[in-house]
Amino acid sequence: MEENREKTAILTGATGGLGRAFLEELLKEELDEIWAIARNEKSLFKLREQYGEKVIPMAADLSCREGIKRVEEALKTRLPQVRYLINNAGMAKMGSYREFSVEEIHQTINVNCKAPVLLSSLCIPYMEEGSRILNISSASAFQPNPYINLYAASKAFERNYSRALNVELQGTGITATAVCPGWIDTELLQKEINGRKVKFPGLVSAERVAAQAMKDAKKGKDMSVCSLYVKCQHMNVKLMPQRLVMKIWMAGIGKYLEEE
Ligand SMILES: NC(=O)c1ccc[n+]([C@@H]2O[C@H](COP(=O)([O-])OP(=O)(O)OC[C@H]3O[C@@H](n4cnc5c(N)ncnc54)[C@H](OP(=O)(O)O)[C@@H]3O)[C@@H](O)[C@H]2O)c1
Repeated sequence: MEENREKTAILTGATGGLGRAFLEELLKEELDEIWAIARNEKSLFKLREQYGEKVIPMAADLSCREGIKRVEEALKTRLPQVRYLINNAGMAKMGSYREFSVEEIHQTINVNCKAPVLLSSLCIPYMEEGSRILNISSASAFQPNPYINLYAASKAFERNYSRALNVELQGTGITATAVCPGWIDTELLQKEINGRKVKFPGLVSAERVAAQAMKDAKKGKDMSVCSLYVKCQHMNVKLMPQRLVMKIWMAGIGKYLEEE
Protein backbone atom coordinates (compact mmCIF):
# COMPACT_ATOMS: atom_id res chain seq x y z
CA MET A 1 0.00 0.00 0.00
CA GLU A 2 0.96 3.64 -0.53
CA GLU A 3 3.03 5.55 2.02
CA ASN A 4 1.59 8.56 3.86
CA ARG A 5 -1.77 6.99 4.39
CA GLU A 6 -3.97 8.74 6.97
CA LYS A 7 -3.37 7.38 10.47
CA THR A 8 -6.89 6.43 11.42
CA ALA A 9 -8.88 5.15 14.38
CA ILE A 10 -12.25 3.50 13.88
CA LEU A 11 -14.56 3.79 16.88
CA THR A 12 -18.02 2.23 16.95
CA GLY A 13 -20.67 3.35 19.42
CA ALA A 14 -18.84 6.70 19.48
CA THR A 15 -21.86 8.68 20.75
CA GLY A 16 -22.50 6.55 23.84
CA GLY A 17 -21.08 6.93 27.34
CA LEU A 18 -18.00 4.76 26.89
CA GLY A 19 -17.66 5.77 23.23
CA ARG A 20 -17.16 9.43 24.14
CA ALA A 21 -14.55 8.47 26.73
CA PHE A 22 -12.68 6.47 24.08
CA LEU A 23 -12.98 9.37 21.66
CA GLU A 24 -11.31 11.65 24.20
CA GLU A 25 -8.51 9.09 24.63
CA LEU A 26 -8.04 8.79 20.86
CA LEU A 27 -7.79 12.58 20.51
CA LYS A 28 -4.61 12.39 22.62
CA GLU A 29 -3.03 10.03 20.07
CA GLU A 30 -1.08 10.91 16.93
CA LEU A 31 -3.93 10.34 14.49
CA ASP A 32 -5.16 12.10 11.37
CA GLU A 33 -8.75 10.85 11.46
CA ILE A 34 -11.16 9.22 13.85
CA TRP A 35 -14.10 7.54 12.11
CA ALA A 36 -16.96 7.84 14.56
CA ILE A 37 -19.67 5.25 13.96
CA ALA A 38 -23.22 5.00 15.33
CA ARG A 39 -26.73 5.03 13.86
CA ASN A 40 -27.79 8.55 14.84
CA GLU A 41 -26.19 10.92 12.33
CA LYS A 42 -27.14 14.11 14.23
CA SER A 43 -25.35 12.91 17.37
CA LEU A 44 -22.27 12.08 15.27
CA PHE A 45 -22.17 15.58 13.76
CA LYS A 46 -22.50 17.02 17.27
CA LEU A 47 -19.35 15.05 18.20
CA ARG A 48 -17.52 16.66 15.28
CA GLU A 49 -18.73 20.13 16.38
CA GLN A 50 -17.54 19.44 19.90
CA TYR A 51 -14.25 17.64 19.21
CA GLY A 52 -13.15 19.03 15.86
CA GLU A 53 -12.49 18.03 12.28
CA LYS A 54 -10.47 14.93 13.00
CA VAL A 55 -13.79 13.32 13.85
CA ILE A 56 -15.32 11.84 10.70
CA PRO A 57 -19.00 11.01 11.27
CA MET A 58 -20.00 7.73 9.66
CA ALA A 59 -23.63 6.81 10.25
CA ALA A 60 -24.05 3.05 9.99
CA ASP A 61 -26.34 0.48 11.54
CA LEU A 62 -23.93 -2.31 12.43
CA SER A 63 -26.73 -4.81 12.95
CA CYS A 64 -27.18 -5.09 9.18
CA ARG A 65 -25.01 -5.95 6.19
CA GLU A 66 -25.41 -2.44 4.66
CA GLY A 67 -23.90 -0.83 7.78
CA ILE A 68 -20.83 -3.06 7.63
CA LYS A 69 -20.63 -2.44 3.87
CA ARG A 70 -20.47 1.32 4.51
CA VAL A 71 -17.26 0.85 6.54
CA GLU A 72 -15.88 -1.65 4.01
CA GLU A 73 -16.40 0.87 1.17
CA ALA A 74 -14.77 3.67 3.18
CA LEU A 75 -11.72 1.45 3.78
CA LYS A 76 -11.48 0.64 0.07
CA THR A 77 -11.75 4.25 -1.09
CA ARG A 78 -9.74 6.03 1.61
CA LEU A 79 -7.05 3.33 2.09
CA PRO A 80 -6.24 4.41 5.67
CA GLN A 81 -3.57 3.08 7.96
CA VAL A 82 -5.80 1.77 10.73
CA ARG A 83 -4.00 2.35 14.05
CA TYR A 84 -6.99 1.56 16.27
CA LEU A 85 -10.20 -0.36 15.81
CA ILE A 86 -12.42 -0.03 18.88
CA ASN A 87 -15.49 -2.26 18.64
CA ASN A 88 -17.51 -0.53 21.33
CA ALA A 89 -21.11 -0.41 19.99
CA GLY A 90 -23.30 -2.73 21.99
CA MET A 91 -26.90 -3.60 22.80
CA ALA A 92 -27.88 -4.67 26.29
CA LYS A 93 -31.54 -5.35 26.76
CA MET A 94 -32.12 -6.96 30.13
CA GLY A 95 -34.97 -9.26 31.13
CA SER A 96 -36.36 -12.74 30.72
CA TYR A 97 -35.94 -14.67 27.47
CA ARG A 98 -39.72 -14.25 27.09
CA GLU A 99 -39.33 -10.50 26.59
CA PHE A 100 -37.13 -10.72 23.46
CA SER A 101 -38.58 -10.53 19.97
CA VAL A 102 -36.89 -12.49 17.18
CA GLU A 103 -35.73 -9.14 15.75
CA GLU A 104 -34.12 -8.09 19.07
CA ILE A 105 -32.28 -11.40 19.31
CA HIS A 106 -30.94 -10.99 15.76
CA GLN A 107 -29.88 -7.40 16.41
CA THR A 108 -28.10 -8.16 19.68
CA ILE A 109 -26.10 -11.00 18.14
CA ASN A 110 -25.33 -8.93 15.04
CA VAL A 111 -24.10 -5.85 16.93
CA ASN A 112 -22.34 -7.57 19.85
CA CYS A 113 -20.85 -10.58 18.03
CA LYS A 114 -20.94 -10.38 14.23
CA ALA A 115 -19.96 -6.71 13.82
CA PRO A 116 -16.72 -6.91 15.88
CA VAL A 117 -15.63 -10.02 13.96
CA LEU A 118 -16.48 -8.55 10.55
CA LEU A 119 -14.84 -5.20 11.30
CA SER A 120 -11.73 -6.89 12.69
CA SER A 121 -11.40 -9.01 9.56
CA LEU A 122 -11.99 -6.02 7.29
CA CYS A 123 -9.54 -3.74 9.15
CA ILE A 124 -6.58 -6.08 9.77
CA PRO A 125 -5.32 -5.77 6.16
CA TYR A 126 -5.12 -1.99 6.73
CA MET A 127 -3.19 -2.37 10.01
CA GLU A 128 0.54 -2.34 10.67
CA GLU A 129 2.89 -3.08 13.54
CA GLY A 130 1.60 -1.25 16.62
CA SER A 131 -2.03 -1.22 15.48
CA ARG A 132 -4.54 -2.14 18.18
CA ILE A 133 -7.93 -3.82 18.19
CA LEU A 134 -10.01 -3.27 21.32
CA ASN A 135 -13.20 -5.28 21.62
CA ILE A 136 -15.47 -4.08 24.39
CA SER A 137 -16.67 -7.19 26.13
CA SER A 138 -17.78 -7.10 29.78
CA ALA A 139 -17.28 -8.69 33.20
CA SER A 140 -20.57 -10.44 32.42
CA ALA A 141 -18.50 -12.55 29.98
CA PHE A 142 -16.96 -14.38 32.96
CA GLN A 143 -20.09 -16.38 33.82
CA PRO A 144 -23.60 -17.31 32.63
CA ASN A 145 -25.98 -14.54 33.81
CA PRO A 146 -29.71 -15.30 33.94
CA TYR A 147 -31.88 -12.28 32.97
CA ILE A 148 -29.01 -10.69 31.06
CA ASN A 149 -28.51 -14.06 29.46
CA LEU A 150 -28.18 -13.11 25.79
CA TYR A 151 -26.05 -10.05 26.56
CA ALA A 152 -23.65 -12.01 28.81
CA ALA A 153 -23.37 -14.84 26.29
CA SER A 154 -22.64 -12.37 23.47
CA LYS A 155 -19.93 -10.75 25.60
CA ALA A 156 -18.38 -14.18 26.32
CA PHE A 157 -18.22 -14.67 22.56
CA GLU A 158 -16.51 -11.29 22.13
CA ARG A 159 -14.01 -12.01 24.90
CA ASN A 160 -13.05 -15.45 23.60
CA TYR A 161 -12.87 -14.23 20.01
CA SER A 162 -10.54 -11.36 20.93
CA ARG A 163 -8.16 -13.39 23.07
CA ALA A 164 -7.81 -16.11 20.46
CA LEU A 165 -7.39 -13.50 17.72
CA ASN A 166 -4.58 -11.96 19.75
CA VAL A 167 -2.73 -15.29 19.62
CA GLU A 168 -3.32 -15.60 15.87
CA LEU A 169 -1.89 -12.10 15.39
CA GLN A 170 1.37 -12.92 17.12
CA GLY A 171 4.32 -11.95 14.95
CA THR A 172 2.42 -9.17 13.15
CA GLY A 173 2.87 -6.50 15.86
CA ILE A 174 -0.92 -6.04 15.86
CA THR A 175 -2.74 -6.89 19.09
CA ALA A 176 -6.33 -7.59 20.12
CA THR A 177 -7.58 -6.82 23.63
CA ALA A 178 -10.84 -7.92 25.21
CA VAL A 179 -11.95 -5.09 27.49
CA CYS A 180 -13.97 -6.50 30.39
CA PRO A 181 -15.40 -3.74 32.58
CA GLY A 182 -17.96 -4.18 35.34
CA TRP A 183 -20.87 -1.73 35.60
CA ILE A 184 -20.13 1.64 33.99
CA ASP A 185 -22.14 4.77 34.67
CA THR A 186 -23.71 5.30 31.21
CA GLU A 187 -27.15 5.46 29.57
CA LEU A 188 -26.93 1.75 28.81
CA LEU A 189 -27.80 0.84 32.39
CA GLN A 190 -31.45 0.46 33.27
CA LYS A 191 -31.63 2.64 36.38
CA GLU A 192 -35.02 1.34 37.58
CA ILE A 193 -36.63 -2.11 37.30
CA ASN A 194 -40.22 -2.82 38.38
CA GLY A 195 -40.30 0.46 40.30
CA ARG A 196 -37.09 -0.30 42.20
CA LYS A 197 -33.98 1.81 41.90
CA VAL A 198 -31.16 -0.51 40.76
CA LYS A 199 -27.88 -0.65 42.66
CA PHE A 200 -24.80 -1.40 40.57
CA PRO A 201 -21.99 -2.71 42.78
CA GLY A 202 -18.51 -1.60 41.78
CA LEU A 203 -19.83 1.11 39.41
CA VAL A 204 -16.99 2.99 37.66
CA SER A 205 -16.73 5.96 35.28
CA ALA A 206 -16.43 5.53 31.51
CA GLU A 207 -13.26 7.68 31.56
CA ARG A 208 -11.53 5.27 33.91
CA VAL A 209 -12.43 2.22 31.81
CA ALA A 210 -11.29 3.84 28.55
CA ALA A 211 -7.98 5.09 30.00
CA GLN A 212 -7.13 1.66 31.44
CA ALA A 213 -8.16 -0.11 28.23
CA MET A 214 -5.90 2.10 26.08
CA LYS A 215 -3.00 1.53 28.48
CA ASP A 216 -3.52 -2.25 28.45
CA ALA A 217 -3.94 -2.37 24.66
CA LYS A 218 -0.67 -0.47 24.17
CA LYS A 219 1.06 -3.05 26.37
CA GLY A 220 -0.40 -5.76 24.12
CA LYS A 221 -2.49 -7.33 26.89
CA ASP A 222 -5.17 -9.70 25.64
CA MET A 223 -7.56 -8.61 28.39
CA SER A 224 -8.21 -5.34 30.20
CA VAL A 225 -9.85 -5.39 33.63
CA CYS A 226 -10.03 -2.00 35.23
CA SER A 227 -11.05 -2.19 38.89
CA LEU A 228 -10.11 -4.27 41.91
CA TYR A 229 -13.81 -5.15 42.23
CA VAL A 230 -13.85 -6.82 38.79
CA LYS A 231 -10.43 -8.44 39.33
CA CYS A 232 -11.83 -10.13 42.48
CA GLN A 233 -15.00 -11.12 40.62
CA HIS A 234 -12.90 -12.65 37.85
CA MET A 235 -10.86 -14.65 40.37
CA ASN A 236 -13.98 -15.83 42.27
CA VAL A 237 -15.78 -17.12 39.19
CA LYS A 238 -12.67 -19.04 38.19
CA LEU A 239 -12.58 -20.79 41.55
CA MET A 240 -16.30 -21.49 42.10
CA PRO A 241 -18.57 -23.97 40.30
CA GLN A 242 -20.72 -22.08 37.76
CA ARG A 243 -24.00 -23.28 39.36
CA LEU A 244 -22.93 -21.61 42.61
CA VAL A 245 -21.87 -18.46 40.78
CA MET A 246 -25.32 -18.28 39.15
CA LYS A 247 -27.02 -18.81 42.54
CA ILE A 248 -25.11 -15.87 43.98
CA TRP A 249 -26.05 -13.74 40.95
CA MET A 250 -29.73 -14.70 41.34
CA ALA A 251 -29.63 -13.83 45.06
CA GLY A 252 -28.39 -10.36 44.04
CA ILE A 253 -30.99 -9.67 41.36
CA GLY A 254 -33.98 -11.52 42.89
CA LYS A 255 -35.48 -8.35 44.37
CA TYR A 256 -35.79 -6.74 40.92
CA LEU A 257 -37.72 -9.60 39.33
CA GLU A 258 -41.50 -9.41 39.21
CA GLU A 259 -43.41 -12.13 41.06
CA GLU A 260 -43.88 -14.93 38.52
N1 LIG B 1 -22.48 0.46 30.71
C1 LIG B 1 -22.05 -0.64 31.28
O1 LIG B 1 -22.30 -0.94 32.46
C2 LIG B 1 -21.17 -1.59 30.49
C3 LIG B 1 -20.48 -2.60 31.19
C4 LIG B 1 -19.67 -3.46 30.49
C5 LIG B 1 -19.54 -3.36 29.11
N2 LIG B 1 -20.22 -2.39 28.45
C6 LIG B 1 -20.08 -2.34 27.00
O2 LIG B 1 -19.54 -1.08 26.63
C7 LIG B 1 -19.97 -0.74 25.30
C8 LIG B 1 -20.48 0.70 25.30
O3 LIG B 1 -21.57 0.78 26.20
P1 LIG B 1 -22.16 2.14 26.76
O4 LIG B 1 -22.45 1.90 28.19
O5 LIG B 1 -21.34 3.29 26.36
O6 LIG B 1 -23.56 2.15 25.97
P2 LIG B 1 -24.45 3.35 25.40
O7 LIG B 1 -24.20 4.60 26.16
O8 LIG B 1 -25.85 2.81 25.33
O9 LIG B 1 -23.88 3.53 23.90
C9 LIG B 1 -24.10 2.56 22.91
C10 LIG B 1 -23.50 3.07 21.61
O10 LIG B 1 -23.63 2.06 20.60
C11 LIG B 1 -24.28 2.64 19.45
N3 LIG B 1 -25.08 1.59 18.80
C12 LIG B 1 -26.07 0.84 19.35
N4 LIG B 1 -26.60 0.02 18.42
C13 LIG B 1 -25.93 0.25 17.27
C14 LIG B 1 -26.03 -0.27 15.95
N5 LIG B 1 -26.97 -1.18 15.61
N6 LIG B 1 -25.19 0.17 15.01
C15 LIG B 1 -24.25 1.12 15.31
N7 LIG B 1 -24.11 1.65 16.54
C16 LIG B 1 -24.95 1.23 17.51
C17 LIG B 1 -25.13 3.77 20.03
O11 LIG B 1 -25.44 4.80 19.09
P3 LIG B 1 -26.81 4.80 18.19
O12 LIG B 1 -27.92 4.47 19.13
O13 LIG B 1 -26.88 6.17 17.58
O14 LIG B 1 -26.60 3.76 17.17
C18 LIG B 1 -24.18 4.34 21.08
O15 LIG B 1 -23.22 5.16 20.46
C19 LIG B 1 -21.02 -1.79 24.91
O16 LIG B 1 -20.44 -2.75 24.08
C20 LIG B 1 -21.41 -2.41 26.25
O17 LIG B 1 -21.86 -3.72 26.11
C21 LIG B 1 -21.02 -1.49 29.10
